[in-house]
Amino acid sequence: MSVAATRPETIIELRDATREYRGHAGTVRALDSISLSVSRGEWLAIMGPSGSGKSTLVNLLGCLDRVDAGSVRIAGKDINTLSRKELDQFRAETVGFIFQQFHLIPYLSALENIMLAQYFHSMTDRKEAMAALERVGLGDRAGHLPSELSGGEQQRVCIARALINQPPVLLADEPTGNLDAANQQIVTGLLRSLNQLGHTILMVTHDPEMAQMADRIVELHHGRIVAEREASLAPHTS
Ligand SMILES: Nc1ncnc2c1ncn2[C@@H]1O[C@H](COP(=O)(O)OP(=O)(O)OP(=O)(O)O)[C@@H](O)[C@H]1O
Ligand SMILES: [Mg+2]
Repeated sequence: MSVAATRPETIIELRDATREYRGHAGTVRALDSISLSVSRGEWLAIMGPSGSGKSTLVNLLGCLDRVDAGSVRIAGKDINTLSRKELDQFRAETVGFIFQQFHLIPYLSALENIMLAQYFHSMTDRKEAMAALERVGLGDRAGHLPSELSGGEQQRVCIARALINQPPVLLADEPTGNLDAANQQIVTGLLRSLNQLGHTILMVTHDPEMAQMADRIVELHHGRIVAEREASLAPHTS
């Protein structure tokens, strides 16, 4: 293997990224000149107290928002240079989202929820959708409505949905926040296998145990990175 192949490629790079919200009550600097590099294939946990800027950071990393100052590069692209339309396209190709609230359409079955996501990527393929459900162990629940699925099963449908376009980056905001311990383990195991398949994972969590599954933990406080450490449980292979 060449030296170049062993050096981890940077997939996400923030430089002095600042995001301010201007409201009638004044200006809140939610992110204050943050610099952060994430390697392709890395699993990063983002922690910090309420209001510290985690969601603001996730929105930037997910190309849902833009910085007021500094830069965000994802897969080599400076997202501030993209038009609105280019950004939408880039996001659809690059990022898969897994939310704490599952955001499934209540009157569509598990399979149809996946097919709806395919539709937004301009391709619907029932067999592919079924294969996606089978990958998360839900082949036998394809016809169930979200209300007929447990919380953990609903989150697995969301993970299948997030993978429809094989995005290199998975963004998970409190992915196990609504789950009991058993389902938490299933979802964590799924994230681990996706990470091993090469997906870069950015995960917000309040749970220190969950954070230990990542490679690295970044802690925010008042919009700044105040601590950054390797997680101790990560199975380091590199
Ligand atoms: N749209 C907005 N307008 C004004 N201020 C905002 C807006 N969104 C967030 N903020 C403020 O920016 C700061 C960071 O918010 P953010 O949502 O990123 O925090 P968080 O770390 O995700 O918190 P939590 O753990 O509660 O979800 C907070 O002080 C918040 O009040
Ligand atoms: Mg938040």
